[in-house]
Amino acid sequence: MVRQLPTVLVTGASSGIGATYADRFARRGHDLVLVARDQTRLEELASRLRAETGVKIDVVRADLTDSADLARVETRLRDDDSIGVLINNAGVSAPGGFANGDLDVMDRLIRLNVTAVTRLAGAVVPRFLARGDGAIINIASVLGLAPEISLGAYGPSKAYVLALSQSLQAELGGRGVYVQAVLPAATRTEIWAKSGRDVNTLKGVMEVDELVDAALAGFDRREAVTIPPLPDAGQWEKFNAARQAMLPNFANEHAAERYRTGNPGNSIAAQ
Ligand SMILES: NC(=O)c1ccc[n+]([C@@H]2O[C@H](COP(=O)([O-])OP(=O)(O)OC[C@H]3O[C@@H](n4cnc5c(N)ncnc54)[C@H](OP(=O)(O)O)[C@@H]3O)[C@@H](O)[C@H]2O)c1
Repeated sequence: MVRQLPTVLVTGASSGIGATYADRFARRGHDLVLVARDQTRLEELASRLRAETGVKIDVVRADLTDSADLARVETRLRDDDSIGVLINNAGVSAPGGFANGDLDVMDRLIRLNVTAVTRLAGAVVPRFLARGDGAIINIASVLGLAPEISLGAYGPSKAYVLALSQSLQAELGGRGVYVQAVLPAATRTEIWAKSGRDVNTLKGVMEVDELVDAALAGFDRREAVTIPPLPDAGQWEKFNAARQAMLPNFANEHAAERYRTGNPGNSIAAQ
């Protein structure tokens, strides 16, 4: 018996990267569940993709910063056994840093970029583990590796998405569930205008089709971390190896020599 291709649930499917993933998975023959707040745009995308590809598409209007809406999507992921791929893509950026930041805006960013991503993964993982397969694509950002070049909570939220993906990979590795972290750099989507920036003033902006096609090449190779714009994959591998080389050195009963009090060379007064 030919096994049905898994249904793909895409968050933030009404525009940009999420809408492009929806297009690509529909063309591969996967049924879709499209999630975002703008129901009209979701319905338009769904009608076009149904007509062009013949796949089944459900539209779920949800504000993932709203607990009740988020819970509905979690329930769908828990209960709908046809869903075999979760794309945790919905995300926002926000202008400004901490000196002049709006904490309510930051809080909403964290609820979407961090809490929703975590809860949706947490909702689906037990079912994926029980059936021994499934995939989660988490859309992080290169700013997760470079939080010092963007203000506010966006970079840190994307560092979390990368760390969450690595934690999930460690927990789920070898149990049939694949987790990919995708780290785009600047990509031409509406996210820039929504956070008050003109994308045309930036250099090195990737088109969204190229970004998603490259991320899917990484997905097909079952890469753990895919950084589409990075020319030399060895740079990421060296960085990650340096991080891992530190790990055995953390298990020590005593503080490092440079922090021991009683050593006159270590006191500020001695300087
Ligand atoms: N474009 C870049 O340069 C870039 C670079 C690195 C990483 N990324 C990441 O890529 C992902 C997609 O962003 P994009 O560039 O494609 O931007 P986008 O075109 O603005 O898409 C964002 C998507 O998230 C949805 N969304 C926003 N708030 C939501 C909420 N409260 N509940 C549910 N859905 C919500 C939006 O739909 P509704 O408004 O209809 O809800 C939209 O579909 C984000 O996680 C972003 O951080 C983008």
